[in-house]
Amino acid sequence: MRILGIETSCDETGVAIFDDEKGLLSHELYSQVKLHADYGGVVPELASRDHVKKTIPLIKEALKKAGLTPADLDGVAYTAGPGLVGALLVGATIGRSLAYAWDLPAVAVHHMEGHLLAPMLEDNAPEFPFVALLVSGGHTMLVEVKGIGDYQILGESVDDAAGEAFDKTAKLMGLDYPGGPLLSKLAEKGTQGRFKFPRPMTDRPGLDFSFSGLKTFAANTIRANEDDEQTRADIAFAFQEAVVDTLAIKCKRALKQTGLKRLVIAGGVSANKYLRQELEALMTKMQGEVFYPRTEFCTDNGAMIAYAGMQRLKNQETTDLAVKAYPRWPIDQLEPVNN
Ligand code: KG4
Ligand code: ZN
Repeated sequence: MRILGIETSCDETGVAIFDDEKGLLSHELYSQVKLHADYGGVVPELASRDHVKKTIPLIKEALKKAGLTPADLDGVAYTAGPGLVGALLVGATIGRSLAYAWDLPAVAVHHMEGHLLAPMLEDNAPEFPFVALLVSGGHTMLVEVKGIGDYQILGESVDDAAGEAFDKTAKLMGLDYPGGPLLSKLAEKGTQGRFKFPRPMTDRPGLDFSFSGLKTFAANTIRANEDDEQTRADIAFAFQEAVVDTLAIKCKRALKQTGLKRLVIAGGVSANKYLRQELEALMTKMQGEVFYPRTEFCTDNGAMIAYAGMQRLKNQETTDLAVKAYPRWPIDQLEPVNN
């Protein structure tokens, strides 16, 4: 079975072709970062218009690189939510229409399920069950995963997502959008111990997160100190350390609560080296194992959508001819897959 996957939920156009026997045959990505950089964040209308320009050329390119024609495909998967409604509608309209024209089944994919299953594209794929820490620009949550589609949310952010907190703090420090990776780079030159940020919501039981206070703490720290390069690096270090520590504390709690030994991290922030390092140390201590996607599949991409779509199609899930997008779509509303 060979599936074309299309991702357009935010500021990246991703297209990929996945084959259940041969694996990933091709994948193409166009990032809109430059388009939004002048505005300091994603401008939804510009994002939609750019997806309109890029999606079909990327599909043609992905087919060409895989040496395939549409007749070689068995289905079309597209991200239907959650995300920016206009951006989602572009991928959904193109995906649904191509499937109709090519006489193929179409399947609507949940963006966060795509992230959650992205580590399955690696050689060292995790077995079920596991705990997943999903950390992206729009979501932060801990999920108990018993199988594909069998998701129980253990905790989530009550305000900003982890990636959002990185981006907002980076903006305060004058870094370009999206600031997460840049802040992390700056933190590499930082010294541990000069600043101490709080670890929000770790002093009480529960698995929810709150990151908006860290941004305020960062703003106050920036204001109260000199604006030299070392101070900026030290603040970046302390901020990143606080986010990562907080995530690690909650992961440990979730693993203890569920009795599981496998931890999956996915979503844009799972590309963060310091987070990976800390969670690896935690899992070594807990005699468990941590799994994550290769760096390019941590952030938005078409490969994870093709893979998730394939699992859903094998479960006989297809969409009717109506083009639908779901800006809000809780992950625990998905149906379990019995492949
Ligand atoms: O999963 P993703 O590509 O898009 C959403 O679904 O939101 O995640 C993007 C987020 C951004 O907030 C970005 O700053 C953050 O992931 N991010 C990082 C790193 N790489 C990407 N945050 C911290 N450190 C990184 N290395
Ligand atoms: Zn994402």
